[in-house]
Amino acid sequence: MVDLIDLRSDTVTRPTAAMRRVMAEAEVGDDVYGEDPSITALEERVAAMFGHEAALFVPSGTMGNQIGMRLVCEPGQEVLCDADAHVVTYEMGAAAAIFGISTRTVVSSGGRLDAQALIDQVRPKTDWHLTATAAIAVENTHNRGGGLVQPIDELRALWTWSRDAGVAIHLDGARIWNAAVASGVELSTYGRLADTASVCLSKGLGAPVGSVLVASAERIATARLWRKRLGGGMRQAGVLAAAGIYALDHHLGRLAEDHDNARLLAERLGLDPSAVETNIVVVEGVNAPMVAEAAKAQGVLIGQVGASKLRLVTHLDVDRDGVDRAVEVLGPLLAR
Ligand SMILES: Cc1ncc(COP(=O)(O)O)c(C=O)c1O
Repeated sequence: MVDLIDLRSDTVTRPTAAMRRVMAEAEVGDDVYGEDPSITALEERVAAMFGHEAALFVPSGTMGNQIGMRLVCEPGQEVLCDADAHVVTYEMGAAAAIFGISTRTVVSSGGRLDAQALIDQVRPKTDWHLTATAAIAVENTHNRGGGLVQPIDELRALWTWSRDAGVAIHLDGARIWNAAVASGVELSTYGRLADTASVCLSKGLGAPVGSVLVASAERIATARLWRKRLGGGMRQAGVLAAAGIYALDHHLGRLAEDHDNARLLAERLGLDPSAVETNIVVVEGVNAPMVAEAAKAQGVLIGQVGASKLRLVTHLDVDRDGVDRAVEVLGPLLAR
């Protein structure tokens, strides 16, 4: 399996030897008692990076998103988001199943944030007849939108409006690192345009496990209760936090490489490289299962996101040689 090129997702990366070393040597304690120094260090660092008071290490982006939304939405209220958002597509109906939160979606153009389109759908908390919109969830970069970076002007417009409207903003920032690297917008700017944000260490950053939820100190204190209730209270998980810290030190700066590789991949496959904003290449109008199967038989794994849509994601474990190999295999399969 040494030669396998895995472009299904940036979640498939394995910890590097250097990352494993810092994990092995991590200082740890019982984090349910709040005594794991590595976790505390990670939380403080990520909170500061996003300009928030506090943060909480959670096992997954899904838990970060769901607790984040629960912090700003009561049971019986709704979260509004776009129809392709991860929180309503891939999180198993958790908001409803666990928290009694209703979700309502607005169809967007490829996941691109249109602040006014969302604002138009908001239902006031003061109307006896309506399910109140307590929060809007925004995804940046947008996964099903092919890694697109949300326009900063739209994010700002939504935030400004939300302050007067009393509607909270939750950021699903699983790949916010990619957005910041691609756009040049500071992480703290993105962070300050959200009340709660979940950011992942286990996607492009290449850590094996973990996400961090950032918010106000008061909200994070409540999040700690929810994490425990959900079974996400971990003990000597500093070994995981150490991987996250290592990833922030060593892998954040290299994300531009993944973006370059994704653009190169698109270009060499005859696709429009300008459509690639970060590390995700979308191929449409193909027989997705057939291409994926044929590619797999030749050692290249790719993601299917529909009957006629494929997804190729670049990451830490795919270098230039990997891109070359992928092009050799996929080129003939995608030739039209
Ligand atoms: C945009 C987005 N949000 C959230 C998640 C959830 O992360 P996890 O798989 O760690 O639950 C993912 C996972 O791929 C994602 O792509």
